[in-house]
Amino acid sequence: MKDLAYRTASSYQQAKQHANDNPEAFWADIAKNFEWHTPWNKVLEYDFHTPEVNWFLGGKLNITENCLDRHLKTQPDKTAIIFEPNDPNDAAQHISYSELHSRVCRAANMLKANGAKKGDRICIYMPMTPELAIAVLACARIGAIHSVVFAGFSATALAARINDAECSILLTADGGFRGAKVTPLKDIADEALTSCPSIKNCIVLKRTGQYVSWNNMDLWWHEELEKVNDNCPAEVMDSEDPLFILYTSGSTGKPKGMVHSCGGYMVYTAYSFQNVFQYQKGDVYWCTADIGWITGHSYIVYGPLAVGATTVMFEGVPSYPDYGRFWEVCAKHKVNQFYTAPTAIRALQKHPVELVNKHDLSSLKVLGSVGEPINAEAWHWYDKHVGKHNCPIVDTWWQTETGGILITSLAGVTPQKPTFATLPMPGVQAVLLDNEGNEIEGETEGILAIKHPWPSIARTIWGDHERYKNVYFSAYPGYYFPGDGALRDAEGNFRITGRVDDVVIVSGHNLGTAPIENALNAHKAVVESAVVGFPHDVKGNALHAFVIPNSEVDPNELTDELRVLVAKTIGPIAKPDRIQVVSGLPKTRSGKIMRRILRKLAAGEYDQLGDVSTLLNPEIIQEIKQNS
Ligand code: WT7
Repeated sequence: MKDLAYRTASSYQQAKQHANDNPEAFWADIAKNFEWHTPWNKVLEYDFHTPEVNWFLGGKLNITENCLDRHLKTQPDKTAIIFEPNDPNDAAQHISYSELHSRVCRAANMLKANGAKKGDRICIYMPMTPELAIAVLACARIGAIHSVVFAGFSATALAARINDAECSILLTADGGFRGAKVTPLKDIADEALTSCPSIKNCIVLKRTGQYVSWNNMDLWWHEELEKVNDNCPAEVMDSEDPLFILYTSGSTGKPKGMVHSCGGYMVYTAYSFQNVFQYQKGDVYWCTADIGWITGHSYIVYGPLAVGATTVMFEGVPSYPDYGRFWEVCAKHKVNQFYTAPTAIRALQKHPVELVNKHDLSSLKVLGSVGEPINAEAWHWYDKHVGKHNCPIVDTWWQTETGGILITSLAGVTPQKPTFATLPMPGVQAVLLDNEGNEIEGETEGILAIKHPWPSIARTIWGDHERYKNVYFSAYPGYYFPGDGALRDAEGNFRITGRVDDVVIVSGHNLGTAPIENALNAHKAVVESAVVGFPHDVKGNALHAFVIPNSEVDPNELTDELRVLVAKTIGPIAKPDRIQVVSGLPKTRSGKIMRRILRKLAAGEYDQLGDVSTLLNPEIIQEIKQNS
């Protein structure tokens, strides 16, 4: 495949110019490098008001032919996936493109044999084993829409996602290894499936070998594979057919099933992968995310495989067996590009630097950061101790909704600036708006918005186009509104300052406060609750829940029960760090909770509360301060 990257400042500038002058010709030039059964007859049709976005209209393709079949002609024996297991004493696996192709086709036939067809939704709730990537690609092979649910979510959260998309098959495992822990995935799935009438089959991968109970609809993955062969022609998909659904939390209760489509997503993830990381033939690339998040979809599976890269999949965690595991794995597999989250860097930074220095990191060429703003201290630690001042750092800003990286530097090609994501990718038109929605120019701070569609923008929220419109296109008509604030320096570099809505990024995970409040409110002793974020030195942000109980309860007992309840309803990642029992919440005269004040209280910024005299109940502030 042709190299999609701009390797010099001048070719980057040229691309930027071309994209500005003629976006459609620009994207068509990139899309030509892929394999299409039928070429598109129109590059783009869109209206940000309805909102409707279509890319490469009339084009027919299958993304797995671009990720797999195409490479069989040129590099069948090249390693596609290096699997690094949780336990460092277990052997790593090197899966070649031809082996991956065969295993994907076989898994695709397994799905078909169990009734799956184009357009069906298949839920994937699996640990980070090669079979997870294979499952994703197998769905894409037959045109089934995958919905991966991160294997840290609870039974309730899993059931809600299965039911929202009416999935017909669940793919899971007996259990998953993560550090010293084993997650009983099948048990959790069993609990979820007691309330998921759409599921017809549950196919279970044997990973841990632990005991699992067995139901009528359960099938062993390895037994089902025995029954089929590996000949599976790819389903021909329309460019705009949905490829997958991925849930992200919103600022109101229900998670949003973001829908990504085949053509534009393929083009953008491959283009951005090669450009941002400056991936070159023969490099080994490692993204430490889980495939349960968009980062894993776009930059472990689809982007890297579309350009024929070698991508590392890591089953474990950065702290197991010790805090040097990341660097051990980098040295072991001679990783060239390493992509992780600021929260991981901050956690590792707390441990002796010897844990980094004892590993040979000379293969590293590029470092990446994703998920939240990277603070200066973490940036410099990463640069000095991991990069040895010799590796450009790409701070990549994007979202589940954007499908791919939108604002970033290109490693070694465009200038980096600590704590700044820097510039929009060629073809991405990022602007700043004031509160009235006017574009503001130059060195300033405002609301981040995107003016023109890019190929991997999510097309809708599954089953709720109205919500898609309301959340992303209504506040500032004519723009895509991501929900982040940003400031811009004199050179046009963007620094993302954080969310401007009720979403909190905890350890790089996007958590809506509303679903957590709903979970707390479900407790019989809770009348009302409010959850806000506060700054945390490792997690970036942590959660502070204010809870009003309905009767005399023991606050310690209540808070313990509430933590369990949140973990059970959403997942352990959503457990508040602090739960404070209060007798009231600061409210406006119209009864609206003043979250701005709660955020200041949680941060301990008592001198920055602003005018509280207009509150309905100003006396509550004193009480909250006193018992915090
Ligand atoms: C939100 C999206 C991007 C994939 C993983 C998270 C925050 C993401 C950065 C960055 C500052 C960032 C934003 C964004 N965010 N990357 N480089 N600098 N903030 O995806 O769960 O959809 O969360 O993460 O607030 O809106 P997500």
